[in-house]
Amino acid sequence: MRPQEGLFHSPGAFSAVAVLRLSRNAALPQLRETISALYGELSAARGLNTVLGLQPSLLPDAPVSSALLPREGPTARFPSTQSHVLVQVSANGRELLLWSLRRVLALTQAVLYLEEEVLGGRIGEGRDAFGFRDGLLRPTREQVRRAALVPSGQLAGASWLLYMRFQNNLERFGRLKPQAQEFVVGRTRDGELVPDAPAEAHIHRARASGAGENQLLIRRGFPFRQGGEEGLAFVSASADPEYYERSLDALLGVGGQTPDAMLRYARAVGGGLYLAPPTHWFQSSSSPREGTP
Ligand code: HEM
Repeated sequence: MRPQEGLFHSPGAFSAVAVLRLSRNAALPQLRETISALYGELSAARGLNTVLGLQPSLLPDAPVSSALLPREGPTARFPSTQSHVLVQVSANGRELLLWSLRRVLALTQAVLYLEEEVLGGRIGEGRDAFGFRDGLLRPTREQVRRAALVPSGQLAGASWLLYMRFQNNLERFGRLKPQAQEFVVGRTRDGELVPDAPAEAHIHRARASGAGENQLLIRRGFPFRQGGEEGLAFVSASADPEYYERSLDALLGVGGQTPDAMLRYARAVGGGLYLAPPTHWFQSSSSPREGTP
């Protein structure tokens, strides 16, 4: 089962996420036809990387599990803005990125409407909105295959996508002394591990769940600035949604764990769980799961 090729490529210099909701009177078979046409066109565009996910309940073989979001810990909350379709597009040129976003709207307007669009991209040589190096541990194809793809069964080749939009409080983070900032992240601004960083440092919290070093999830997010808001459009791909539960609970400090210091400076304002089907799903004609999404 061929996975979506876009999963193997880290976001380029420019990246965007579009979140779309089914129009009230849209028929589900029409949705499959529409997004198959969209995936076909975008994935054929040279230099553009596309990952397309659907609300899991729209796919006939997806296991029904309890909602990942919203989620809450003692000091922070991750809200849900779950919708029906998520498209992440990335390119090394802005022109191609804009073209793809226009095509998303033009091809889907009979069935879907745009609920959220976030445009961003690489800052400098690859820094987050706080100015820290991010995306340091670039995954190999093999790591993507192992961490991000469902290995067998009906969903073989699919990938679970988590999308969360974080607003970073730059002013608050900026008031910290440089060393305190590094203790929040667990790395120096240039990405070196900080050996004496506290247990609440982001790196330690992320690793506590087992997700470090491209083990359980592949991060493919990007920083953005939009309407005066700066933050991280966190997108990741994983073979199993349970890993997200573990990761998010480790950051939130659920079950007596230490909450992530980063969450004092970055607030999640929305997100959802999507499933990126393997490419054959976009080519066959059987209809998606019946019923209301
Ligand atoms: C505003 C929110 C966030 C910011 C600003 C942020 C920033 C960073 C930075 C600067 C690094 C270190 C650089 C690197 O390893 O590439 C990092 C690493 C990491 N983050 Fe985040 N992150 C955020 C949210 C999240 C979330 C929600 C998750 C998981 C669900 C997560 C999981 C990880 C993981 C697994 C690593 C790599 C740890 C390692 O192997 O060293 N991050 N993040």
